[in-house]
Amino acid sequence: MAEKKPVQIVETVLRDAHQSLIATRMSTEQMLPIVDKMDKVGYHSVECWGGATFDASLRFLKEDPWDRLRKLRDGFKNTKLQMLFRGQNILGYRPYADDVVDYFVQKSISNGIDIIRIFDCLNDLRNLQEAVNATNKFKAQEGRGEAQVALAYTLGDAYTLEYWTSMAKKIEEMGADSICIKDMAGLLVPYKASELIKAMKEVTKLPIQLHTHYTSGVASMTYLKAVEAGVDVIDTAMSPFAMGTSQPATEVMVETFKGTPYDTGLDQNLLAEIADYFRPLREQWLESGLLSPKVMGVNIKTLLYQVPGGMLSNMVSQLKEMHAEDKYDEVLEEIPRVRKDFGEIPLVTPSSQIVGTQAVLNVVMGERYKTLTKEAKDMLVGKYGRTTVPVNAEIQKKALDSLGMKEPITYRPADDLEPSLAKFEKEMAQYKQQDEDVLSYALFPQVATEFFKYREAQQTGVDVTAANTENKTYPV
Ligand code: CO
Repeated sequence: MAEKKPVQIVETVLRDAHQSLIATRMSTEQMLPIVDKMDKVGYHSVECWGGATFDASLRFLKEDPWDRLRKLRDGFKNTKLQMLFRGQNILGYRPYADDVVDYFVQKSISNGIDIIRIFDCLNDLRNLQEAVNATNKFKAQEGRGEAQVALAYTLGDAYTLEYWTSMAKKIEEMGADSICIKDMAGLLVPYKASELIKAMKEVTKLPIQLHTHYTSGVASMTYLKAVEAGVDVIDTAMSPFAMGTSQPATEVMVETFKGTPYDTGLDQNLLAEIADYFRPLREQWLESGLLSPKVMGVNIKTLLYQVPGGMLSNMVSQLKEMHAEDKYDEVLEEIPRVRKDFGEIPLVTPSSQIVGTQAVLNVVMGERYKTLTKEAKDMLVGKYGRTTVPVNAEIQKKALDSLGMKEPITYRPADDLEPSLAKFEKEMAQYKQQDEDVLSYALFPQVATEFFKYREAQQTGVDVTAANTENKTYPV
């Protein structure tokens, strides 16, 4: 038998799986009872924080996300905790100043995060450097922390093997500990995965992880080929929250590699007990309608239009608001055009919302780019960073004129941003109960303020209305 090379598993049920399937509504209370068992599995890590969980905790569950992190850290004594981090955008939707990025990384690590998966929606590595530096700095101080840089996987003429391998080399040079290929829409097909992993393995010694979604129905085959090609770690979700717009099922991948050189060594009986815990939760959300059969099947359109699952559901609700649901197919077809005009960028938070909203406007207004959103203008003039291919010059000119700018920005966008922590501290001082509160406020001023008021009311025994459970879907 060939040399043993067990594939490692990142369990996503506490973050991406419920973000993808049930709009990030799993509460801390629903997570804690199973933590002990999950801690015994031997996962490479458990992804449990970041992405949309932060916003959703504050906004809908009326929970302090920092408190959730500390509770999970207490429970997971032997397992690394992982989070998803949007580069200079942190866990928000726009770039933040370096001092905020730095402090957020520090607090994430000191409250319990081991692995920070950092990505940028444009794959502009300049937007990742500050978060990587901060992770390395606090890793040295706290004795915990790993900087993982994730490349947003996308398709297009510019995205050749050469592109991905040159990015891998740069990531190694920038001081990252590992690389992730983040395929948020399930675009990576099995044989392409094989090619991609082999090529990347040739240029870097860093461990390579693969993250994909089941949306297009190929994900478990993609993992199989990627593992054969040498990928080190794959992201999976416990079966009750797997497949559809989520990840391949953990138990299925474990079984697939059993008795092969890639055997994960994970205990199928223990996994079955964990699945037994999550199954009734799945049933509960199916009954309430939060888990919709729509997100559970195969959607091959994702391969045609490259649209991540969360973006699709956002689009549907935008169209509903505008009473233009009949324009759905037209908007789907408009997305690749807008994406091309915007420099063939990956579609992932926040670029997915920016492109999606613009596509909706183009169709509903009946004229392309008649109206540009503020975010679209900023994207076109470089305020989110550098695109892989140049944006459409004509539309860029329109954006520049409307913003009163002569030229687009070519430097790192955050170079323009003044340190802002002190300002945030001042604004929210009356609500502060812990250092971390300023970070919640910096990212979501209104939502955090509402949460702080709710928290105070609860502490003083005032009757508070139940947490808002409005069904809003978050992008992945
Ligand atoms: Co994902």
